[in-house]
Amino acid sequence: MRKISLCALLHVLLLFINCYCEVVEDNCSMQLVESIPENLTFSPGSPTHLSTYNAWRYLIESARATIDIGSFYWTLRGTPANQDPTDCEGESIFRALMDVGSSEKVKVRIVQSEPSSEFPNNDTAALAASGAAQVRSLNLERLVGGGVLHTKFWIVDSKHFYIGSANFDWRSLTQVKEMGIMALDCSCLAGQLSKAFEMYWSVALPNATIPSAWPPAVDTQFNVHSPLCLQINETSSLATFGIDPPEFVARGWSSDLDVILHVIDSATTQINVAVMDYFPTTLYDDPNTYWPIIDDALRRAAFNRGVRVRLLASRWNHTFPDMFNYLRSLAALNGTTNENHAVHVEAGLFTVPSYTERQAKIPFGRVNHNKYMVTDNAAYVGTSNWSGDYFIDTGGVGLVVNQTGTASDDLIQEQLLAVFNRDWNSAFTTIL
Ligand SMILES: *[C@@H]1O[C@H](CO)[C@@H](O)[C@H](O)[C@H]1NC(C)=O
Ligand SMILES: *[C@@H]1O[C@H](CO)[C@@H](O)[C@H](O)[C@H]1NC(C)=O
Ligand SMILES: *[C@@H]1O[C@H](CO)[C@@H](O)[C@H](O)[C@H]1NC(C)=O
Ligand SMILES: *[C@@H]1O[C@H](CO)[C@@H](O)[C@H](O)[C@H]1NC(C)=O
Ligand SMILES: *[C@@H]1O[C@H](CO)[C@@H](O)[C@H](O)[C@H]1NC(C)=O
Ligand SMILES: *[C@@H]1O[C@H](CO)[C@@H](O)[C@H](O)[C@H]1NC(C)=O
Ligand SMILES: *[C@@H]1O[C@H](CO)[C@@H](O)[C@H](O)[C@H]1NC(C)=O
Ligand SMILES: *[C@@H]1O[C@H](CO)[C@@H](O)[C@H](O)[C@H]1NC(C)=O
Repeated sequence: MRKISLCALLHVLLLFINCYCEVVEDNCSMQLVESIPENLTFSPGSPTHLSTYNAWRYLIESARATIDIGSFYWTLRGTPANQDPTDCEGESIFRALMDVGSSEKVKVRIVQSEPSSEFPNNDTAALAASGAAQVRSLNLERLVGGGVLHTKFWIVDSKHFYIGSANFDWRSLTQVKEMGIMALDCSCLAGQLSKAFEMYWSVALPNATIPSAWPPAVDTQFNVHSPLCLQINETSSLATFGIDPPEFVARGWSSDLDVILHVIDSATTQINVAVMDYFPTTLYDDPNTYWPIIDDALRRAAFNRGVRVRLLASRWNHTFPDMFNYLRSLAALNGTTNENHAVHVEAGLFTVPSYTERQAKIPFGRVNHNKYMVTDNAAYVGTSNWSGDYFIDTGGVGLVVNQTGTASDDLIQEQLLAVFNRDWNSAFTTIL
């Protein structure tokens, strides 16, 4: 007999009684969480949100029993070779994790991508050595033939979570621009994310292989066709996570790519995308292949349905120059016409300037690292760049929240749109 969780049972009942959201979650709240790099300032009155640092501190302080973390690499502490006055927030998160994990009341589990010299794990090695955390490394190269675990999330006491673009890196708190969502008291939704964690955890062992069928414990009822129906900040909402790569799409799950395509295909008036890197190709194959799946969906939305598309990518000293071609190609549609509407597609580049020599010298700092999309009816926050690799062999998760049909000033999607507009209209953006 398969064990049916309370969440799943409620969800089935709710489908019958026409999605009576009140029943499922009593107290779920969500908020946007951002890192704004040191000295990057927007015009007065621009939207501001809880900082990633404060969100993470809050999550650690709230923990009573468990903290489960899905992560890429760990450089929360500065190193002698790579030290900065602004690494103190990362150091403080590291110490807080060490303290809470050593307290014996809270069990900390961390799954990270297989470490390498480029992506070190000194922090997790220290946490494991002192007994503050159980740490496992996921080797996607071995399991699926390539890629890294690029996911970034926290789950606390199976009911609070953070998901977003911020790595476990001191720069992600003070020198890199990040976007995420913190959810509190959202046990049903956190339950779905926990299943993603359990999948990673179970195969992050030296000899593990991807099972031919995942155990029923990681099946889900929630996907883009049947999202979880819940109250978020007392507003009726629909939400689900998507997961990649395809080997981790257990029964009932949507892939992260399908979530993205669903959100694009469901838009009726506008699509606003903020991703660090945008390529309708793979980037890390040999040879690379053309991969226009998302690009086509955006062009279809603009051309077939007259949806206004804006895409804000990021420019830094490491941007692969071909990206400019692909952005110009997309934006070249702007101003063409379908029979009854003009086609609107615009692309922009956001640059985080260095204001001091110290900032300019920080390796891999000063970039807009966010990965989200907001349409007229949904908000999506993910962990992946938009190139083929991220959906073929990279580990990532994305969260979609739909609060359409409710009149309220505090909708996640309205707040995310305000952030997008702030960035798009700022002095840091160049429209192509
Ligand atoms: C940058 O921010 C730091 C810390 O907030 C401040 O002390 C410094 O004056 C700022 N520098 C510039 C160039 O704005
Ligand atoms: C990690 O630790 C090694 C040896 O202890 C050290 O050489 C290296 O610089 C450290 N790297 C980072 C990024 O902390
Ligand atoms: C894992 O595989 C290695 C060889 O690759 C073998 O020596 C070891 O015994 C295996 N461990 C387990 C727990 O099966
Ligand atoms: C959000 O919900 C509305 C109303 O149910 C629906 O029309 C829209 O397609 C949904 N959007 C997504 C992305 O699922
Ligand atoms: C896109 O086209 C619209 C008219 O269809 C025009 O108003 C707008 O300025 C164009 N955007 C860019 C960036 O050229
Ligand atoms: C990028 O490189 C240029 C020249 O090499 C340098 O002047 C600039 O400060 C760098 N930008 C950042 C953000 O570090
Ligand atoms: C995509 O995002 C990661 C970090 O999330 C970044 O370091 C990487 O360089 C990005 N770009 C590409 C082209 O992979
Ligand atoms: C939801 O409620 C929390 C707690 O009251 C608040 O901090 C947060 O900003 C609200 N979220 C939105 C999207 O308004």
